Formats: sequence, C-alpha cells, structure tokens
Amino acid sequence: MLLECDQLKFKEIYVEINYEASEALYPLLEEQGIEGWHCLDKGSRMGCLFYLPANRQWEKKWETIRQKLYQLSNSGLEPGPIVFDVQEINSRSWEKIIEEAREPRQVLAGLWVVPPDFKDVERLEGLTIKLKGGMAFGTGDHPSTRLALGLVRDWMQGCSPVLDLGTGSGILALAAAGMGAQKVVGIDNDPEAVLLARENVKLNNREKEIEIVTGNLLQGVKGSFSGVIINILLPEILEVLPHLERITRPGSGLVISGLLFRQFPVFRDRFQNTPWEIIDTRVEGDWAGLFLQRKG
Ligand SMILES: C[S@@+](CC[C@H](N)C(=O)[O-])C[C@H]1O[C@@H](n2cnc3c(N)ncnc32)[C@H](O)[C@@H]1O
Repeated sequence: MLLECDQLKFKEIYVEINYEASEALYPLLEEQGIEGWHCLDKGSRMGCLFYLPANRQWEKKWETIRQKLYQLSNSGLEPGPIVFDVQEINSRSWEKIIEEAREPRQVLAGLWVVPPDFKDVERLEGLTIKLKGGMAFGTGDHPSTRLALGLVRDWMQGCSPVLDLGTGSGILALAAAGMGAQKVVGIDNDPEAVLLARENVKLNNREKEIEIVTGNLLQGVKGSFSGVIINILLPEILEVLPHLERITRPGSGLVISGLLFRQFPVFRDRFQNTPWEIIDTRVEGDWAGLFLQRKG
C-alpha cells in the first residue's frame, strides 16, 4: 500500500542550461529511463521540465544527471550556469500534467501537433499531425524543428519527391506530406527514431506517401529530389553538402535547420561557388534556418 502511494508522487525537475549544450541533455535523461520532457525556449538558454517517480531511486538518478551536466564543459560543450529546481507533486497535479500533455499544440499558425488518440481533429483549423512522444526532437517544441516547419510551409508546398534527412519522429516528413508531397523519404541513423517515425507515419495514415529508412546521411540514397529537408547539426550538414547535387536537380529546394546562428558565417562561406542560392534566412533564439534553391 505504501509503495502504491509512493508511485503516485512525482518529482518535477526543471533544468536550465545554454542552448548550445541542450542536445547533450536528452541522452542523459534517456539513460535514466526518462522518456518524455518538455522544452521551453528561453532565448540563448533552454529550460527542460521532466518528471521522476518519487521512489527510492529518484535522487540517485537526478544526481547522476546533475553530475554529468557539470562535466559537459570537459567535452567542449558550455552549459553555462546550471539552474535547477525540484518540486514534489502529488497524484492530483500529476493528472493535470498528463491532461495538459494531451492537449493539441499549435506549433505554427495552422499546424497542430496532437497526441495519438486525439479525437477532436475537426475543430482544429489547418494541418494536424498525430505524434507519439518520447523524443526531444520531433515534438515540434524545438526551435530548429519549428524553423524547418515554417520554411517547408512557406517554400515547399506541393514539392515532391522530398527527402527528410535526420527524420527523428518523422514530423518534417509528415508535414511535407500534409503539404502536398506525394512521395517523401525519411532517413535516420538511430534505429529507435526509425521505429518511432514509422509508427507516426502509420498513425497519420501516410504509408502511401512516406517511406522511413535507416541510413547514415546520404549513403545509399538514390533519386532526384525536388525538395530536401535537413535538420541535423553543422558537422553533419557540412559533410552532406558536397553530395546534394547528386540527388537534386536545378530548381530543387533545400531547407536547412539545426544551425546555431553564430555558425551561419561558416555555413554561408561553404555555399560560395556552388549552385545553391540562399533565398530565406530565419532566426529563433540561438538557432538559424534557411531555404536555398539550386540555380544550375
Ligand atoms: C535535430 S534531430 C531532428 C529530428 C526531426 N527531423 C525534427 O526536425 O524535429 C536530428 C536527427 O538526425 C538524426 N541523425 C543524426 N546524425 C545522423 C546521420 N549521420 N545520419 C542520419 N541521421 C542522423 C538523429 O538521430 C536525429 O533523429
């Protein structure tokens, strides 16, 4: 009986670190069995809210995460001041949190992300994407995902076929299909992401349009895509750039996200003397997203 009561209590933990180090936080949470979290954009900082059952293990798990965060600067990532707050919440407020997480979220004007079993889709205006959670990226809450979504919406309506490199939960592939792409290929090198993306494709009845494959960057990718979406980190983006002409044609569009704004000059320099012209540059917090078009 005591154990049951314990299980109804949770520790709500809030951590705030620099954006540039935020990607390192998610694997630390996953290592401790935490599958869901909520990210809050704080300009150059990122806030992350997650929950641990208030049983005997919670303190050890939280301490491990905290220590590893302090060690991040040894690996060249600067978390800045690590701000945190721990609150105990009881079963009633926990129910409220679950309830809130089940609410549809408007990620962009006219683009909604809803939980898998959400029934009331008709009352939402615009494109609705059902997503099974569990991953940091791909919920639509991260600025680099939002930037990519906005660029796809504004520049790639009806573009087909589309390649989504680093598909994660499949959110960008689903958005492209929802915006008219008849054929989308999503690639990820993480087998768990591939499984999740396939589940999400099924949830949205997009199996005809979207194929999700396991792969490393563009290795083994064949075809000529009218649109390519890439939301991965700068080193991988730079590795992929010289190979983009092989899988595109003149006039093809390219959405790039996952860049930190301060990395933009490095990125722009790499596009000089290439057939790619930067058409649109957008910034959200520390992140930048771009749309480019192949001229020749
Ligand atoms: C920043 S997340 C983007 C997820 C999703 N597209 C979004 O916009 O929310 C990057 C994704 O790229 C994948 N990835 C990283 N390196 C990769 C590589 N070398 N080849 C293929 N996918 C990769 C990761 O597994 C992750 O799912």
